[in-house]
Amino acid sequence: MPHSNRSYLTALGIPSWRRRGLAPSAGQTSDDPLLAGEQTPSLSNREERKPNSPSITDSQAPDAALLRIKAAVERCTRCDLHRTRNRTVFGVGGVEAHCMLIGEAPGAEEDRQGEPFVGRAGKLLDAMLNAIGFRRDQVYIANMIKCRPPGNRDPQDIEIRSCADYLAQQIDEISPRMLVAVGRIAAQRLLSTTEPMGRLRGRIHRHEPTGLPLLVMYHPAYLLRRPREKGKAWQDLLMLHSTLEGSASPDLS
Ligand code: URA
Repeated sequence: MPHSNRSYLTALGIPSWRRRGLAPSAGQTSDDPLLAGEQTPSLSNREERKPNSPSITDSQAPDAALLRIKAAVERCTRCDLHRTRNRTVFGVGGVEAHCMLIGEAPGAEEDRQGEPFVGRAGKLLDAMLNAIGFRRDQVYIANMIKCRPPGNRDPQDIEIRSCADYLAQQIDEISPRMLVAVGRIAAQRLLSTTEPMGRLRGRIHRHEPTGLPLLVMYHPAYLLRRPREKGKAWQDLLMLHSTLEGSASPDLS
């Protein structure tokens, strides 16, 4: 059976996106239902990626400039979200990561822990990254906005604009090779478009302010609600993998 079909069926049935030989991320075990089951075959003929492969990230050392931006975010009162937040949620991952994922906004668990994508959707995101050989700490993960909108409502324009400068500084500091917009709201904002997800995913865009290649993928929270879309999400992951590996020169639109 072709590799992509097998992955598609696997993703529809028993989630099994972790690559053979990859160690579970911290906190995950092989009993994790998102990681259990038959494992996907290698994505290419290359050697299995080593957990600390320099082709993904070269350093985990905290970056002084990034810490300064984080401190500014912690003090931020630019919009009303500072009144209701418990913690600011700045970002996490390797500071020299080649891939930066940008979600929408922190949810309840993120607001509690001060870290992006640590709830149920975050666990699925971890499994998705694992499936293409990346540990969570080998990419950089942030959100459009750094404080939780009450009741998990969509972020308001003023909130996104208030935080835009922090995100821009983060991208500048991390200086990734590519960006990944996680979900519709991040995708539409980062690409300044109102096009629907169906038209945005499946190709490599150019993020205008930075010129970086940008890939759009379904939000894991959406995939938890619509598991039948996991097959498409798998295609997105394969595109992410091949773009990062440079095996597909990005055709920027
Ligand atoms: N959804 C997001 O977009 N970001 C998070 O950090 C958590 C859930």
